[in-house]
Amino acid sequence: MIQGKWFAPGENLSEEILPLRAEIFGTRDAARQDFLGWNALIYEDGHPAASGRIWWEDGAFRLGDIGVKPDFRGRRLGDLTLRLLLFKAQSHAAKEVRLCCPESVSGFFARLGFVPESTPENGLVEMLLTGDSISLDSCANCAKADCPNRKGIL
Ligand SMILES: CC(C)(COP(=O)(O)OP(=O)(O)OC[C@H]1O[C@@H](n2cnc3c(N)ncnc32)[C@H](O)[C@@H]1OP(=O)(O)O)[C@@H](O)C(=O)NCCC(=O)NCCS
Repeated sequence: MIQGKWFAPGENLSEEILPLRAEIFGTRDAARQDFLGWNALIYEDGHPAASGRIWWEDGAFRLGDIGVKPDFRGRRLGDLTLRLLLFKAQSHAAKEVRLCCPESVSGFFARLGFVPESTPENGLVEMLLTGDSISLDSCANCAKADCPNRKGIL
């Protein structure tokens, strides 16, 4: 079973979020941004499997430390984490959502409309998604013409 949990600014991250991040990113320290924003944690069958953070800074919502534990990758948990964070941004009427990621994962964010804003520097690229481009409709590009859920819409 897949479950999600939000951690509000100032909540204790040391029991679940930080150990998970250590497995994904190799660092166990809380980030300055953890005290400003919200962290989403995804469990698969009770095991912490994926997490990500959203915070407000310099006129935009920013996403960071989005990651899935290696054993759990390729099961759409990264996609779910990103969509949860974008839902949070959208429900706060975000005008801009920004993130910085390794160039090698920019395609993961481009799937949901993020565009590169800079040329890669040290392998990192700044990505931008405007608020009016947030689309959480996971059926939008589905080719299944006879889906009962889409009848009457297409
Ligand atoms: C990037 C990451 C979060 C993806 O998580 P995941 O759970 O394996 O990805 P999902 O199963 O949700 O994949 C969803 C889609 O994204 C695609 N995708 C996954 N990783 C991708 C990548 N590096 N580049 C392009 N597309 C990617 C998948 O092929 C899938 O495509 P589909 O919709 O056509 O089927 C995960 O690989 C990870 O934790 N990487 C290390 C941490 C990291 O670099 N995070 C970014 C820093 S902000």
